[in-house]
Amino acid sequence: MSAVRRIAVVGATGAVGTVMLRCLAERGLDRESEIVLFASERSAGRVIDGRTVRALDEHADLSGIDIALFSAGAGTSRVWAPRFVQAGATVIDNSSAFRRDPEVPLVVAEVNPHALHLGEEDRPRLIANPNCSTMQLMVALAPIHREAGIARLIVSTYQSVSGTGQRALDELDAQARASLEGEPAPAPQIYPEQIAFNVIGAAGSFADGDDHTDEERKMMFETCKILEDEQIAVAVTCVRVPVRIGHSEAVNIETRAHLPLERARELLAAAPGVILEDVPSPLRSEGRDEVFVGRLRLDRTHPNGLAMFVVADNLRKGAATNAVQIAELLLAEAGSGRRAPTAAL
Ligand code: A2P
Repeated sequence: MSAVRRIAVVGATGAVGTVMLRCLAERGLDRESEIVLFASERSAGRVIDGRTVRALDEHADLSGIDIALFSAGAGTSRVWAPRFVQAGATVIDNSSAFRRDPEVPLVVAEVNPHALHLGEEDRPRLIANPNCSTMQLMVALAPIHREAGIARLIVSTYQSVSGTGQRALDELDAQARASLEGEPAPAPQIYPEQIAFNVIGAAGSFADGDDHTDEERKMMFETCKILEDEQIAVAVTCVRVPVRIGHSEAVNIETRAHLPLERARELLAAAPGVILEDVPSPLRSEGRDEVFVGRLRLDRTHPNGLAMFVVADNLRKGAATNAVQIAELLLAEAGSGRRAPTAAL
C-alpha cells in the first residue's frame, strides 16, 4: 500500500459519481487520499472541485490506484473493472454487472460486511454494491430477518428519476417545465412514456419473455444473496414516479416466527443506519445517509404479518454512501495492519 492512497471514481460526472465525490469529501477521505476522476471521453478535461476528469480509454493510466468506485453503467464495468483489478485496485462496483457472480460479494455495509472477508489473505478484489431499492430494504429488513426469519415479502416501489441517471432528471425537468408553461412536453427519450405528472407502472426493462422487469428481478435475487437465505419468497412491483431523489417502498412482511409489533419497533429503533418515524418522505430523505422507516404496523391479513414504508436517498445510501462505507472498511483494514502492505490495498 502506497503512503498516499489513491481512490478513483469512474463515472465521476454522473448522478451517482457526483454524490460519491461529495461523500468522499464529507467523510474526509479526500484529505487522506488522492482522488482521481474518470468519465467518458466526452467529459475529458472538465474540472470538478479542482480535479481534471480523465477519459477512460486505452491511454488511461490505472497504476497505483488502491480503490476504484465505479458508477458508469454495467457495460463500462464489465470492460474496465477487471482491468482496474488487474492493475492492483480493489473495485467497488455500483452497476449490476457482477452482482450475480457467486465469487463477488454483494455488500450492504451495515448488514453483511463479513462478506468482504477483511483480513483474509485472498479477500475479493471486486465487490458489488447492491441495487438502490434493494439496499435500503436490506438495512430495514436485516434486523427483522435475524430475529424472526422472513418467509415472504411483498414490495411495491415508488422509485425516483435520479435512479436512472442525469439524463432522466433532465427529461423530467424539461417535461415538467414545458407542461407548466402550457407547451407540449418534449417526447420521452429515456422512459417509455412521459414521466412528468405521471407514474410508470414498470420501472426497468423487460428481458425477452419475462413478465418481471430487470429492477424487480434484481430485488428478488439480491435480497436472498445479501440475507444469505434462498428460502425467502420475494414478490416485487417496481414503479417509477416523478420524484427527483429518494426511493420509497411499501413493504409487507411475513415472518417465520411471530414478531410482536413492539419488538419490531425496538429492533428498528436500534438498527444501524435506520431512523424510525411516523411517515417518511423522499423529499426529507434527500441528502441523508440513513434509511427512514415508518408506517410500522401489523398486517392483520396474516398471523405473522408486518407492514412498513421504507424511504432513502437512492443516490446516497442507495449507491454512493454504501460504496464509500465499503471503501472505509477496506482502508481501516489496511490501516489496522491486518493485511501485509502491498502495492494495492
Ligand atoms: P460522461 O458524463 O462523460 O458521459 P449517469 O448515471 O448520471 O448517466 O452517469 C453515467 C456516468 O458514467 C457519467 O459520469 C458518464 O460520463 C460515465 N460514462 C458513461 N459511459 C462511459 C464510458 N464508456 N467510459 C467511462 N465513463 C462513462
